[in-house]
Amino acid sequence: MSKQVLIVGGTTGIGRELAAAYARQGASVIIAGRDSTGAERTAKELNAETDTAQVRGIAADLSKPEILKDALSGIDHVDAIVLTGMRRDNNTIAGYDIAGATELAITKIVGYTTVVHALRSRISPTGSVLLFGGLAKDIPYPGSTTVTTVNAGVTGLVATLAKELAPVRVNAVHPGMVGDSPYWADNQPAVEAARARILTGVVPTMRDIVEGSMFLLENPAANGVNLDLNGGHA
Ligand SMILES: NC(=O)c1ccc[n+]([C@@H]2O[C@H](COP(=O)([O-])OP(=O)(O)OC[C@H]3O[C@@H](n4cnc5c(N)ncnc54)[C@H](OP(=O)(O)O)[C@@H]3O)[C@@H](O)[C@H]2O)c1
Repeated sequence: MSKQVLIVGGTTGIGRELAAAYARQGASVIIAGRDSTGAERTAKELNAETDTAQVRGIAADLSKPEILKDALSGIDHVDAIVLTGMRRDNNTIAGYDIAGATELAITKIVGYTTVVHALRSRISPTGSVLLFGGLAKDIPYPGSTTVTTVNAGVTGLVATLAKELAPVRVNAVHPGMVGDSPYWADNQPAVEAARARILTGVVPTMRDIVEGSMFLLENPAANGVNLDLNGGHA
């Protein structure tokens, strides 16, 4: 059986890059986003880009945990689960938007957990789960209340899931700003401003995060790790 990788949030950004990297290695990759049309379209693009037929797309909306069991029922086994999907929530206390905060909190905490719950008996014993958090867990910024809270929550999820899923490994990657990710690529002034706060003076790229992610997913000794990848924060 070939290695099977599920990336929920694999239709754009870092998840998409990770899907391409696994497809190039010969793994079967299932990418999921909120709707099947978008996911199937991206899967087609990835197959063309990687010159493979390794990628397929499905819908799995993390903000609607009650539908995830059915959404994932077509997956017979999985070796690696990557949970990276989210919609950003810029939310100050003064202008607190309950809907945005609720969506992000459900997506990253209940949605991520529900995917693992739904697939728990189909994860290979030598397999692993990778959750995406972010630097905001330690370094808040105005409007990051929910982002900071859920990314800190991801560290709690790593601790509990690693215990409950053993021997399956569970880790998280916490990127700082990823300069060439779609969200930042068109905002170079913000990227330049961030560079001044990075000890290396080099803004991480999607490639850097993909390499760190593959290390956590593949290294048999990596378990319960929260890996910060941000170049060092000044
Ligand atoms: N980029 C950065 O600078 C940065 C910094 C710190 C942390 N991070 C973390 O890294 C991860 C990836 O970031 P990114 O910038 O690469 O993301 P992105 O380009 O914004 O992509 C987000 C992905 O999430 C999917 N998604 C959104 N809502 C979803 C839902 N309810 N259910 C399922 N999928 C959903 C989107 O797919 P559809 O649109 O098809 O639904 C898309 O594939 C995120 O968890 C983010 O918090 C990123």
